[in-house]
Parts: sequence; structure tokens; C-alpha cells
Amino acid sequence: MSDSLPVMVRITRIVDETPTVRTIYFDTPFPHKPGQFVMVWVVGIDEIPMALSHPDAITIQKVGDATSALFLMKPDDMIGIRGPFGNGFSLHGRVLAIAGGVGAAPLLSVARGWDTVTFLLGARTESELLFVQEIQEFCDLLLATDDGSRGHHGYVVDLLKTIQADRYDTILVCGPEMMMVSILKHLVSINLALNAQFSLHRYMKCGIGICGSCCMDPLGLRVCTDGPVFFGTQLISSEFGKYSRDASGNKDKK
Ligand SMILES: Cc1cc2nc3c(=O)[nH]c(=O)nc-3n(C[C@H](O)[C@H](O)[C@H](O)COP(=O)(O)OP(=O)(O)OC[C@H]3O[C@@H](n4cnc5c(N)ncnc54)[C@H](O)[C@@H]3O)c2cc1C
Ligand code: FES
Repeated sequence: MSDSLPVMVRITRIVDETPTVRTIYFDTPFPHKPGQFVMVWVVGIDEIPMALSHPDAITIQKVGDATSALFLMKPDDMIGIRGPFGNGFSLHGRVLAIAGGVGAAPLLSVARGWDTVTFLLGARTESELLFVQEIQEFCDLLLATDDGSRGHHGYVVDLLKTIQADRYDTILVCGPEMMMVSILKHLVSINLALNAQFSLHRYMKCGIGICGSCCMDPLGLRVCTDGPVFFGTQLISSEFGKYSRDASGNKDKK
């Protein structure tokens, strides 16, 4: 564990998971609780938050400068890791995990390590469904794709509406913010927001509660130290789903 200085790790293996998502394995494991994250230093480019999909791996979707630079890396290249940070998920009883796209990364270890898990997984299209084989080895898996190429034709929230969510003690959600907003709305409508935990992807700089770049209105909750996992009831009256902040702190409308 390193709060202030990154531990330099050597990349050992790279796995193409989907056309836009890649897993990078490195030579040092970072014991962590599912849902915690690390700050990944891409030397000369940026330092960005990432979930650990395995103790010794991160799973990356290419969206901008740092993630594109990670996509160019090869075995034996070095990256820096600080962490793990954040609260992680609280697990008990029967678990329902709901993921969209690369949001499956922090939930993979729950799928592998927890006894009774039902997993709802969504993506744009079949080739973007992440970790399908690994998840179905351990869990009941239901799939949804926006284009109907596999599983339910539509959104993962539609799958949620087909199951009896109150049979689960713990509901875990990670994915694009607007997907999580629609899930939260549904869970509020059936009085289950209290049971649901959402892992947020927000812009971060320090990762340790100092810079304020990840604060959420109106309470000033810091995603890096108070989260990244929040109960639905904490998010209902927050900026979640309404706006987030960019690198300069300006509000980005959703
Ligand atoms: C706790 C946590 C865990 C995360 N885990 C993963 C993971 O396992 N795999 C993964 O691929 N990504 C994960 N992310 C998102 C990842 O941090 C961003 O995709 C990354 O910072 C983008 O950096 P970039 O330089 O490539 O893109 P930039 O050039 O900084 O931005 C490109 C685009 O991505 C958006 N963006 C920037 N930062 C974030 C962010 N933190 N969340 C969402 N969108 C962002 C920007 O608004 C912009 O539209 C996680 C984020 C957090 C906070
Ligand atoms: S990233 Fe600096 S306070 Fe959260």
C-alpha cells in the first residue's frame, strides 16, 4: 500500500477483452476490497483512477490521453500504482451485481469470490460484453445489449425489472452514470435504494481527499475517500446524474 508515492510495477501480460477494453497484468499484487481503486501513473501523461479487476491487474476502456497511452503499452513497460484507496463494497447475504461496460471490472472479484451472486451485465453490443465466460462460471448471468445482438434487446435496467430484486440483501451497481441513474430511479420506486451501492466514475486528481476535484454537491462528499461506493440514499439528492466536474472544476452537464 502506498498513499503518496507510486509503486513502479512491470507489465507482465496484456489481454484484449473486447475491441475497446484491455486488461493489463503486472508483477505486483495489491490486496484490496472489491470496489476499491488505485491511481495509475502513466509516466509523462497523467495519473488516473482505476478499479482493480484482479489484485494484479486493471481493465481499461480507451477514452482519452492516459487510457490511450495505456493501450500502447507492452509487456516489460512500467507503470506506477498508488493505493488501494476508497471504501469498496459492503457485502452480505445474497448479492445482485449490475454492471454496464467496463463497470464490470470492480465487480469481477465479487463474482469470483462471493457465494450467491446473480449478475446482470449490459453493453452496447455482444462484442463489448466484458468477462462473460469468467462471470458465468461462478454466477447466474443475465445479459442485455443495446442492439439486441445477445441477451435482452435493451438496457440492463430492463433486466432488473424482470427479476424480484427484493430477494437480494446486497445490490451492487457500476457502469456509465446515466445507466446507474436509471437503476437508482427504479430501485427508489420499489423502495430498495437503501440496499443498493453504486460505484462512481468521477474525475480525480489526488485520490486521497486533498484536492477537492471529486467533490459532489451539496454535501461535498469526496468520491475518492467517502466513496467511490455510495448507497443509493446518499445519491438521491446529490449532483449524481445531473452534472459532474471536468479537470478545471467546471460543471459538465449530463
Ligand atoms: C473509482 C474509479 C474507478 C475507475 N475504474 C475504471 C476501470 O476499471 N476501467 C476504466 O476503463 N475506467 C475506470 N475509471 C474511469 C477512468 O478513470 C477514466 O476513464 C480515465 O480517468 C480517463 O482518462 P483519460 O486521460 O484517458 O481521458 P481524459 O482525456 O481525461 O478524458 C476523456 C473523456 O473521459 C471522461 N473522463 C475523464 N475522467 C473520467 C472518470 N474518472 N470517469 C469517467 N469519465 C471520465 C472525460 O470527461 C472525457 O470525456 C474509473 C474511475 C474512477 C473514479
Ligand atoms: S481526487 Fe482529490 S479530493 Fe478526491
